[in-house]
Amino acid sequence: MVRWCAGALALLPIVLSGFALSRVSAAPPAERDVKAGQALYVRYCAVCHGEGGHGDGASAAGFATKPADLTDGRLMNTLPDEFLVNIILGGGAAEGLSSGMPPFRGHLNEAQARQVIAYLRGLARPPFRPEMARPPVSAPNAPPQPIFFSHLIHAGSFQIACQYCHADARRSDYAGLPSVERCMGCHKIIGAQDNPEIAKIHDYWRRGEPIPWVRVFKVPEFTYFPHKPHVRAGLACQTCHGPIERMRVVGAETGRTLANDLMNLVGLKPAPPLLTMGWCVQCHREQNAARGTHAPLDCITCHH
Ligand code: HEC
Ligand code: HEC
Ligand code: HEC
Ligand code: HEC
Ligand code: HEC
Ligand code: HEC
Repeated sequence: MVRWCAGALALLPIVLSGFALSRVSAAPPAERDVKAGQALYVRYCAVCHGEGGHGDGASAAGFATKPADLTDGRLMNTLPDEFLVNIILGGGAAEGLSSGMPPFRGHLNEAQARQVIAYLRGLARPPFRPEMARPPVSAPNAPPQPIFFSHLIHAGSFQIACQYCHADARRSDYAGLPSVERCMGCHKIIGAQDNPEIAKIHDYWRRGEPIPWVRVFKVPEFTYFPHKPHVRAGLACQTCHGPIERMRVVGAETGRTLANDLMNLVGLKPAPPLLTMGWCVQCHREQNAARGTHAPLDCITCHH
């Protein structure tokens, strides 16, 4: 009975996410919505994004950051509906993009924004399939950061490789956070003139200061966690950090929790929370048994 309960608890998130997915991959949008979306698009969007959606509308030339090419499936297809709704109603600034993209909340309601999206999905090349745009993950405990940096845009939509920015992961203990210079490599030009979030990068760069990012994943000083052997052992970043490319802002529930301690106390065996000793040791046991790795179980390797 107790075991069954624990099993059911463990299954809960899967059932919930299955629910979210089944809603997303529901029936294709009705022809009526697509038609309505097209009319709204022509009325409100074409002036900047162009009749065909290529970002070449009559007003496009006046913008430092050009209106997006909404037909480019490589960029658009991974962006979830929720993200697009937010941009359309709240403007580019709602997701850290340029405010050249104005908010339409005064003109469109959410249902109408979704109709426009239904229309835009049909323009995408390569073609859009619902399973490409998985719902965004709102991670718990995401701290406020000095700059609104979105993994959903960089690692999701633009598919910049994790290790392009976290370049030390495969060769040292630390994954590392990108330097201001790394950001400037792209942002000397991209968004430089009309995006206040990107203007902040330029300010740090001019002052020669690093960006004071607030850490999310951190083990206590008395423990030793090296990235290199884990990455070399073929563990994906997401195994430990979750689906980062679907997060607008990074956060995580780490360390011991009261709920977890209570479940242990009454004999349920919940999965150990991220970054606790139980979490490290459980994976080491499983990996050693399943793949014959030599992940350490002795105290001194993890505690110098
Ligand atoms: C006044 C000009 C203007 C109008 C009107 C406008 N946009 Fe935009 N839009 C922009 C600009 C400029 C950007 C680029 C923002 C950036 O990349 O920082 C943009 C970006 C976007 C993006 C983000 C794409 C991405 O790559 O993430 C979406 C989605 C979008 N627009 C949809 C719409 C829709 C739908 C409408 C009509 C309801 C619309 N826009 C009307 C100027 C406009
Ligand atoms: C390989 C190129 C590249 C690098 C490196 C890069 N970016 Fe970006 N970034 C982009 C692109 C492309 C966009 C989307 C621009 C648009 O549509 O307006 C973007 C958008 C942004 C935006 C606005 C949207 C958002 O994410 O909220 C911010 C802020 C930003 N980047 C910050 C940073 C910071 C900080 C760094 C360094 C840690 C960085 N970028 C590194 C390419 C890059
Ligand atoms: C364009 C650069 C860029 C790319 C690409 C990128 N990241 Fe990041 N990453 C950052 C920046 C900047 C931060 C610090 C701000 C924040 O936490 O969002 C960060 C933070 C993180 C953190 C939290 C670090 C901590 O403990 O505070 C993790 C984990 C992470 N990234 C993993 C990934 C993974 C996995 C990928 C690929 C799916 C990825 N990143 C792609 C720039 C990038
Ligand atoms: C086996 C689990 C695991 C894997 C796999 C893993 N990480 Fe980490 N990551 C951690 C832990 C634990 C920390 C905290 C380390 C610390 O405090 O010293 C961390 C910290 C980080 C940080 C914060 C900065 C730093 O260097 O400590 C970033 C960024 C990060 N990881 C990115 C990545 C990326 C990118 C990948 C894939 C290339 C990856 N991680 C793979 C467990 C993992
Ligand atoms: C695979 C790595 C790993 C191994 C092996 C390991 N530990 Fe830990 N240990 C950790 C991490 C990570 C933490 C910090 C997170 C936490 O407190 O759960 C920790 C925390 C601790 C703490 C502090 C707990 C607290 O409540 O603050 C003690 C004491 C400890 N370990 C003792 C040991 C002893 C004794 C052994 C050998 C039997 C051992 N550890 C083996 C990773 C490890
Ligand atoms: C998702 C599984 C997983 C998690 C979680 C994990 N590890 Fe590991 N770890 C491994 C594997 C697999 C290896 C062995 C790699 C090999 O044998 O090549 C390893 C190896 C190590 C090593 C030995 C490195 C070396 O140079 O031989 C240390 C130290 C270590 N892990 C510490 C930790 C600590 C501390 C944590 C928790 C904060 C942790 N690991 C969490 C899978 C994991």
